[in-house]
Amino acid sequence: MTPAASHFIAPLTFASLAKYPVALSMFPAPGDEPASGSWHIDWGLWADAMVIAPATASTIAKLAAGISDNALTVIATALRGKLFVAPAMDTDMYHYPALSRNLQTLRSFGVEVIPVGEGELASGLIGPGRMAEPTEIANRIAAHFARSCSLQSRRVLITAGPTHEPIDPVRFIANHSSGKMGYALAEEARDRGAHVTLVSGPTSLPQPVGVDVVHVITAEQMAAAVDACSNEADIIIAAAAVADFTPTHTAQQKLKRRQMTEAELHIQLRPTHDILRAVGERKRAEQVLIGFALETERLVESAQAKLREKNCDLVIANPATEAGAGFGADTNRVTIVGHGTEQPLPMMTKRECAAAILDAAEQLLDARTTPQTTSP
Ligand code: CTP
Repeated sequence: MTPAASHFIAPLTFASLAKYPVALSMFPAPGDEPASGSWHIDWGLWADAMVIAPATASTIAKLAAGISDNALTVIATALRGKLFVAPAMDTDMYHYPALSRNLQTLRSFGVEVIPVGEGELASGLIGPGRMAEPTEIANRIAAHFARSCSLQSRRVLITAGPTHEPIDPVRFIANHSSGKMGYALAEEARDRGAHVTLVSGPTSLPQPVGVDVVHVITAEQMAAAVDACSNEADIIIAAAAVADFTPTHTAQQKLKRRQMTEAELHIQLRPTHDILRAVGERKRAEQVLIGFALETERLVESAQAKLREKNCDLVIANPATEAGAGFGADTNRVTIVGHGTEQPLPMMTKRECAAAILDAAEQLLDARTTPQTTSP
């Protein structure tokens, strides 16, 4: 319990109901010391999971910054198991900009953030900020343990983000990709026990912990990075928005406007390597290959064409212009298109979307790699 929590509930009530001692201070009281003499060593090593519920804005901010100044934060930062936080606070605090940034940072550390509910709050205000229902928290913990080994000893390769194609030392051609979908996939695969390699174009996202991240800038660099490790991967997901064209020539010095003699500047472009197509051409039968199709029209049709042309097992069709989906958003609405299958999903967070995509990938992988039992 934090000092603030003990203003709401007496530690003795907690200890009596839980039948466990309550850690209140970083320095255990004489006679109350755990075996090693410190809570964070004993409990941080012992627990398979730790749940902070309710998690205040202050505790969330401390954990995002790595501050460990009370019993709760010292155990949470020393924890080897899975950390869950169930935020709860007043609706205006919930909308304070630092909170969403801190929650995003915690997610990148592998922490599962259990979404708040909406409704009447302790203050009487109505809005988001209620702690998730205890049954929902329990379900999330159970779901975590159910799936935490589903990709154990599997290798997952993911591309994410945009690429930047240089025109001169200060200018480049790019697109609006934020990398969020690819990073969510990397975090979800990591949490299922996979060894994850994330080949990332330039993004402003925090680097996911426990994932091998290869930073690249251009499509050519991304192709080389994928080339180096695609053969060992069991699942390959091309979520990057790779530039389709790159300047044929990159000026060594900055192009100067006043030195341009003509009224128009022409930049000649050549097509980049299609990374997904190249992986599809050399793919082994048991590998699962997934592409994305970000489209402004005829979504599923285009996804089906890409599925065949690039020898993919699944293509995730993604509307580019729908509110709450596509570039930059935290949510997405996709259709998982397979050979003869079509699974439209509702609008959901990119992390939930990542879970659905990996569920579909695991099904294909299991069908290919599980030895078939034959009747005697
Ligand atoms: N892709 C890739 N390498 C490229 C271009 C695209 O690996 N040079 C991958 C993307 O990561 C995505 C898929 O191919 O998984 C589809 O990308 P998209 O740009 O939608 O399709 P294109 O093949 O470029 O076709 P078009 O632009 O005609 O829609």
